[in-house]
Amino acid sequence: MHLTNRQLFLKHVAQTSPAPIGLEIVKARGIYLYDAGGRAYIDFISGNSVSNIGHCHPAVVQAVQAQAEQYMFLMVYGEYVQSPQTLLAKDLCDLLPAHLNSVYYVNSGAEAVEGALKLAKRVTGRTEIICFRDAYHGSTHGALSVMGNEVFKQAFRPLLPGVKILEYNSVEDVLQHVSDKTAAVIVEPIASEKGYEPATSGFLQAIHAQCSRHGAMMILDEIQSGFGRSGSLFAFEQYGISPDILCLAKGMGGGMPIGCFISSHENMNAFTHDPVLGHINTFGGHPVCCAASLACLQVLQSENIIPSVHAKEQLIRQLLVHPAIKQVRGKGLMLALEFESAELNMAVVNRCIQHGLVADWFLFNDHAMRVTPPLTITEEEIRKACAIILSAIEG
Ligand SMILES: Cc1ncc(COP(=O)(O)O)c(C=O)c1O
Repeated sequence: MHLTNRQLFLKHVAQTSPAPIGLEIVKARGIYLYDAGGRAYIDFISGNSVSNIGHCHPAVVQAVQAQAEQYMFLMVYGEYVQSPQTLLAKDLCDLLPAHLNSVYYVNSGAEAVEGALKLAKRVTGRTEIICFRDAYHGSTHGALSVMGNEVFKQAFRPLLPGVKILEYNSVEDVLQHVSDKTAAVIVEPIASEKGYEPATSGFLQAIHAQCSRHGAMMILDEIQSGFGRSGSLFAFEQYGISPDILCLAKGMGGGMPIGCFISSHENMNAFTHDPVLGHINTFGGHPVCCAASLACLQVLQSENIIPSVHAKEQLIRQLLVHPAIKQVRGKGLMLALEFESAELNMAVVNRCIQHGLVADWFLFNDHAMRVTPPLTITEEEIRKACAIILSAIEG
């Protein structure tokens, strides 16, 4: 019996929800996804903050093709000199504060967090990790341990011991709990799955100061906020602080899977001894992904994309005024529309999809809809997308 792609998807591709969006996409370009029937959808979530420079940016496609012809996988992490890795690391480090000068490549956000947690434990010789209520850092065991939401954790215990969960944006909690026992404080500059609550400057500055005072590592998770989404290349630039360890992924690869954690050369050296090979992975820094990432970074810097984010945010805020929208929250093109109920939010999300705009809600906030279009979206496209959202609210 011949099964359709949809039937094969439901039968053989592991499902994590009883109601996947289930669009069958055959092509993607810029801000648009095209289904098997040739219908175009505006991707207003960028595949969840990945396609920051749009889908299939020609510079990324070209870099992928060129590198695939040279070589693809050669050797497990860290043994051979591979120019896509070295050139990307140099470009990243040149854009970061001087102490963030050593890049460890991985394949995803959760892996970046795993590596960062291990590094903090190894450098400090301590085990206590501080994280925040409703934080999301990934779904693997270490990352899940520092997730700030019990609903998603409880079925998988036991997890890492020594994890303390504090209130997001509570300076008081930070002052009270970060101590000489703390290995790391892991924090997002904009609490993503809570529905894009930006950190206050005082909060991130207090974490930074407390970590410095007590010799703990500040780990900043910019997996979602990085690569221009918040309106600067990295959100921390807007806060007057810099972390000890920076975690990146998602938008980093221009659509290819790559992540990294970045720290000082001195800190990273901890992985070279006692034991040697302190953090191992096979595919991290895949040359094709690094080439794609290098092209993506160059596009972000050369095409005036990041400086345009603020005006696009303002336009969305100006257009999305409706009594049903209780609040537009967030920074840059990392915005959340807060509705008065989960029912209304879900109805709006579903109607948006029916009207040709891909929308989604948040893991820990079912009252809010995410607005995270590609940063390359034009003013005209924003107007079109917002008109779809407003008509979806009207029903
Ligand atoms: C803030 C944040 N951290 C970590 C992760 C985990 O990244 P990945 O899904 O690539 O493992 C995500 C993914 O949504 C995220 O939004």
